[in-house]
Amino acid sequence: AMLFSGTSNPDLVGKMAEELDMQPGKVRISRFKSGEIYIHYEESVRNADVYLVQSLSHPVNDHLMELLFMVDAARRASARSVTAVLPYFCYARQEKKDAPREPISAKVVADLLHTVGVDRVITLDLHAPAIQGFFHIPVDHLTALDRITEYLSEKRIDHPVVVSPDAGRVKTAEKLASYLDAPFAIMMKRRPAHNEASITHIIGEVKGHTPIIIEDMIDTGGTIVSVVEGLREKGAKQAYVCATHPVFSADAIKKLDNPGIREVVITDTVPVDSSFLNDRFTVLSVA
Ligand code: R5P
Repeated sequence: AMLFSGTSNPDLVGKMAEELDMQPGKVRISRFKSGEIYIHYEESVRNADVYLVQSLSHPVNDHLMELLFMVDAARRASARSVTAVLPYFCYARQEKKDAPREPISAKVVADLLHTVGVDRVITLDLHAPAIQGFFHIPVDHLTALDRITEYLSEKRIDHPVVVSPDAGRVKTAEKLASYLDAPFAIMMKRRPAHNEASITHIIGEVKGHTPIIIEDMIDTGGTIVSVVEGLREKGAKQAYVCATHPVFSADAIKKLDNPGIREVVITDTVPVDSSFLNDRFTVLSVA
């Protein structure tokens, strides 16, 4: 097997290589002045099982194109198989039409990966697990929930309540609550506009409890902040905020500096410059 890194998350690939006791393969990835991408494997991949690791995070479209070209180059260089390892899968929130005349963008990404010749996909905590069905090839859908559970168990949190920030996360919250032997609550949210969220209802008892909010991703931080504020209004204590994917667009990190948040637990599926993070952030590795 050979492991190659795209440009999106070399630190994670370094840790994976260490875990696997192997060296990442050599591939040149550069840009022409026009912005077009150039790929060249600098060692043979003939008959190799090639694993390409690329987080499809910001700049999403560039990272996606880079991956597609890496797959194509590996196929044309006679790799035996190509596995796309996607710690963060982009466009996962566009997995169905919410209104007429919209695309299903996550399906388009799956189709592109097929078209260029990916044999297998390994990914983590998909926004909507049904995206697995967009592929006709095996998808290994892994989760960071065990890492997060392990970390939280060691904290011995007083009167915890696991909180699902919306209806989509209920199953995950239920699992985490059962692992931690804690009750759980569900928030109902509305999206008045793109990247805006407001809480309409809370189901469950949160007063006097320490919320453990479990999310798939924090993007702009809008959802988390409205969830935290909704919980505070109902008399909850400072919350632990846990999310697999720290997408952290715009001023998300600043927004998370909220008095209702005790700690933010994230993973390294999306790279975050650690100099922006204070000691209220914990980054668990999924390597
Ligand atoms: C949406 O349903 C997701 O699970 C996240 O709650 C959401 O996309 C996070 O985005 P933001 O941080 O911008 O509110």
